Amino acid sequence: MPNEIFKLRKEHVNFKKMLNLLEAQLDLLHRGEEPNYQIMADILYYMTQYSDVSHHPREEAIFSLLVERDPNRKQDVAEITRQHHTIAEAGTSFHKKLENIINGESEIMQLQEIEVPGRFYVTILRAHIEKEEQSLFVMADKLLSEDDWKGIKTDTRLSRSDPIFGQDVEERFLFLCDQLTQIDSDKHP
Ligand SMILES: [Fe+2]
Ligand SMILES: [Fe+2]
Repeated sequence: MPNEIFKLRKEHVNFKKMLNLLEAQLDLLHRGEEPNYQIMADILYYMTQYSDVSHHPREEAIFSLLVERDPNRKQDVAEITRQHHTIAEAGTSFHKKLENIINGESEIMQLQEIEVPGRFYVTILRAHIEKEEQSLFVMADKLLSEDDWKGIKTDTRLSRSDPIFGQDVEERFLFLCDQLTQIDSDKHP
């Protein structure tokens, strides 16, 4: 498997952890318990500042080469690119809502005003990841040449270090990291 695909798949594993954690908070809310709005906001901040800014553009660089190699993929790639926009918009708007609650700028909203956009975000991102892994990554792996991968790799404009799973954890994500570590240690005591 090309290294770039390996890295993207690894990031998907991290994003799925984030979505599970977000979903657990939405479940609390649904049951009438108090969710942790800070955790939710941190997750959305990470997704909008890392996934939308680095992961998705790196994928688009790969997918645009894939269309050059196989024009039949054009529709699929256009759909995935549209989804990147939808995910970024949904994430930014949901993050803003959560920040407003945390900063006391808006009353705690009706259950649906948080739960609906939260569930929507989780659902579209999970389906998106599935589609990339089942089809476009597989096609890219088959159709792109060594030189294609070298070109993608040297295009460093799109890379930035992961503020949670990279070498150093950014200070603002330490709390979220703690939560992730706790979940991992609950699963593997
Ligand atoms: Fe994507
Ligand atoms: Fe992806």
